[in-house]
Amino acid sequence: MPARIHMTMIGAHLKVGKPVVTCELIMTNESFQVYPLIDRKKRGGRLTDKEIKWFIQSFTENKIPDYQMSAMLMAMFIKGMDVAETASLTDAMLESGEQLKFPGKNVIDKHSTGGIGDKASFILAPIASAAGVKVPMIAGRGLGHTGGTVDKIEAVKGFKTSLDLDDFSKMLNKEGLVLIGQTPDIAPADRLIYALRDVTATIDSIPLITASIMSKKLAEGANGIVFDIKMGTGAFMRSTKDARALGKSLIATSKRFKKKAVALITDMNQPLGNEVGHSNEIIESIETLKGNGPKDLTDLSIALAAHMIHIAGVEKTFDKAHKKALEMVSSGKALNEFRKLLRNQGGDERVVDDYSLLPMAKITTEIVAPKSGYIKMFQNEKIGLLLIELGGGRKSKSDIIDHGVGFTFKKKIGDKVKKGEVIFTIQHHPHQKEIVETIRTRFLKEVLTMSASKVKTPKLIIEKLS
Ligand code: URA
Repeated sequence: MPARIHMTMIGAHLKVGKPVVTCELIMTNESFQVYPLIDRKKRGGRLTDKEIKWFIQSFTENKIPDYQMSAMLMAMFIKGMDVAETASLTDAMLESGEQLKFPGKNVIDKHSTGGIGDKASFILAPIASAAGVKVPMIAGRGLGHTGGTVDKIEAVKGFKTSLDLDDFSKMLNKEGLVLIGQTPDIAPADRLIYALRDVTATIDSIPLITASIMSKKLAEGANGIVFDIKMGTGAFMRSTKDARALGKSLIATSKRFKKKAVALITDMNQPLGNEVGHSNEIIESIETLKGNGPKDLTDLSIALAAHMIHIAGVEKTFDKAHKKALEMVSSGKALNEFRKLLRNQGGDERVVDDYSLLPMAKITTEIVAPKSGYIKMFQNEKIGLLLIELGGGRKSKSDIIDHGVGFTFKKKIGDKVKKGEVIFTIQHHPHQKEIVETIRTRFLKEVLTMSASKVKTPKLIIEKLS
């Protein structure tokens, strides 16, 4: 048995020594012991609503140290959480901060579960906004191997990704579109837990993802949510079965809070679009808003925007909403919304017409096919990890992202390639020759699989759940 030290805390910041086993929280009038709760979960037992809420509240108030929270997260990850436990965790994380409410049913957000080259938010949000949907977007930074919307938009000089909730609400009401990162006021428990999960290999868990996404989305005041559940080698969900289970969990939670919800399960076995990085993804997004985007990125962004327009009640049928989304691009209205978004949040809107204003690494190195054949498969997660090696992601929380480095894919799954033909290019700095060679070797050895016979292009939108 470990030694037991009984501590009574009244909201004070506790610097925890070893071992801390019992914490009594005066403010909740509840007294639980940290160690037995972790131990019970580790053995596959259930936690009650009160226990989960106490644990999350205590952690958010800095009364449970990171190492005990990490142990609890790993126990939750390995042993799972049932529907009631997942609901308690979501509620606890939601209630850890402020909750916004917007009147009107046309306040709709979209959330992707994360992938490689996923820049759809920069396209679908202006489309939906131009069509009359109010979009309150609280997005994330990179998580694990996946890129983050907030990191990408910060490639635009001056763009403010943090606003206080008052300004966030005012901007949404006035402008109809606002895009910020996680704030200390909205679901602070998620902010803390997200950072821990990122470094403790506890990301790809359905209950933990459900609570993380839903606590933020419910708090930001959207009345409906369109989920993009990524599935494949670059996603947290590797199979359609797991993606479906996550989609069902997100939709069930949305329903419990009387929010409209649609979930698309979409392919993440290769990068979405051609660009993977930061500045280059912003350029590809602008090109897509100008009508020149790659087909997969365009089709997915239009489909997701159409679902937002539909559940907002702007159009009565999905087909009409789809047509409207296309019109918002062809008329230039969506591009204008993007310009306005940059301007409203202090960003340099001139980037829309002058890409040289974005930070860009100067050297381009080509990675070519080692033999002729068809592209069969990418280990897509590793593409994200190779970008991190190049400086386009974080290895530790304090790392600063290099927005100028990235990859441009010239070939995708199903494409025929000749020996020596370029598969992708790397944008990098002169001093990065060694890392570029490592990326070349690892890409050819660990990421790329080729086939001598024809390969089918993967289906982009695999399934719809609503
Ligand atoms: N996106 C989130 O916001 N949270 C997760 O846990 C995974 C993806």
